[in-house]
Amino acid sequence: MTTRMNRRGFLAAAGVTATAAAAGALAAEAPSGGSPAAGGGAPQRTAGAGAQFAPLRAEVQIDDCIVEGEIPSELNGGFYTVGPDPQYPMDPKNIVFDGEGHVRMFRIRNGRVSYRTRYVRTERYVAQNKAGRILMPIYRNPYMDDPSVKGLSRSTANTHVVPHNGLLLALKEDSPPAAMNLDTLETIDPVYTFGDQLPRTQPFTAHPKFDAHTGNMIAFGYEAEGLGSDTVAVFEIDTVGRKLWETKIKVPYAGMLHDFAVTENHVALFVVPMIVDLEQMKRGGIHWSWDKTKPTYFGFFRRGGDGKDLKWFTGPARSGTHTMGAFEDKGRLYLDTEVTPGNPFPFMPNRDGSPPDIPGSRSTLHRISASLKGGRNKGYDIELLFPLSAPLPRQDDRYNTAHYRYGFANCPDPEPPAGQPAVNCIARMDIQTKSYRLWKAKPTETVGEVVFAPKSPTAPEGQGYILATVWHADQNLRSDLVILDAERVEEGPIARVLLPVQAAPQVHGWWVREDQYPAQPA
Ligand SMILES: [Fe+2]
Repeated sequence: MTTRMNRRGFLAAAGVTATAAAAGALAAEAPSGGSPAAGGGAPQRTAGAGAQFAPLRAEVQIDDCIVEGEIPSELNGGFYTVGPDPQYPMDPKNIVFDGEGHVRMFRIRNGRVSYRTRYVRTERYVAQNKAGRILMPIYRNPYMDDPSVKGLSRSTANTHVVPHNGLLLALKEDSPPAAMNLDTLETIDPVYTFGDQLPRTQPFTAHPKFDAHTGNMIAFGYEAEGLGSDTVAVFEIDTVGRKLWETKIKVPYAGMLHDFAVTENHVALFVVPMIVDLEQMKRGGIHWSWDKTKPTYFGFFRRGGDGKDLKWFTGPARSGTHTMGAFEDKGRLYLDTEVTPGNPFPFMPNRDGSPPDIPGSRSTLHRISASLKGGRNKGYDIELLFPLSAPLPRQDDRYNTAHYRYGFANCPDPEPPAGQPAVNCIARMDIQTKSYRLWKAKPTETVGEVVFAPKSPTAPEGQGYILATVWHADQNLRSDLVILDAERVEEGPIARVLLPVQAAPQVHGWWVREDQYPAQPA
């Protein structure tokens, strides 16, 4: 790879890498609206999941964005997202998930909106910026790193953002969070250890949960004792950053534990056969391969305990990447999650060398459950919850650890007209009535993951707004923020914030309520 490249070369290399990888994700994330470019040359700009991974590389700041419609007066706070945005052209063997974390913020106050984006200044970003080239070329593979970065955090901070104790934490599951200023997006600490309460090498999930009653953050880290370790550390941190509890448990095998679940009294894990593949890494490949010969394990243990009560329930090979909600009721623990019958990421290799299985990567929303007391056959139960292909399901995040009724998601139209491609939709799901309502976007619009913003901190569950980013394939990926009334999604956006540019890439996002900001800007 050359270290100097003009803009056309950069875009071609970075864009083709991203869109080729996203071509696999397309089936899982939004099998609709066209396909990204499969060949060489400049990336094609078409609708589909590839749009939300299209590299941008420009940090943007806009005060008083143009708004179409009216921002509700009670909607005050910030919509934060993050995604991988390659700093330099990626190695052709790398995958789209390895770009540097680029955070963006729509700050909404009194009907006005400002927009700001900043790369997270991770140790990796800073070192690569100084060198003018990629120094960690392969996804989560330290064997391939340039010797100059030995000892630096490998975090890209590109997966999720959550508020904590007046900070914004940018998360990547192989490292501690990076702490940012909520207002300016300045990186305050690229390796945030909660005041040395966690080791600098502590893996930390991109999907922490917030207790519905205390607001405490419950998080975990897998491979907690080094590369390929089967130890998982779990901890609870209070709202002012004190670690209240930590324990360690062992999983049946070391694999991707991307998300988890927390209920009032328990922590639950779903172990899926996306295994840590050290041999593949030593050959220059990525961290993971899909091993369909391994079973899945659904397990849980009590919060606040030593983990010795851990129980496992088994099932066949499948995947469940993202939790919508979880709760316990009448002696059972329930996990609502999106489930794929096979490898959820077709751009990640299959261990048996078989080609990508696109149908096997399509997820639908399921409910997994097991008895808290154990079971005679030690198998977990699983049932279809909604026939929606929604790999990024969300809930009203005030209900992370409690009984909940409503779910929200971006998804392709489950029943497109005959002969027509499925357009992107936003769904509101009612788990009590097993029904859902949809807003259908235009065929040229790609819809990113949604977040729910309550009307007020104490508003009843589901009363509020859904926010999402929309990329326009017919406008060179110029993007909007759309705001929908969560109780009337089918009526479509009540307001659109019109960006004059393409929004930075996005995996996940979070709504930060006005009451979660520090009284004085940090
Ligand atoms: Fe995720």
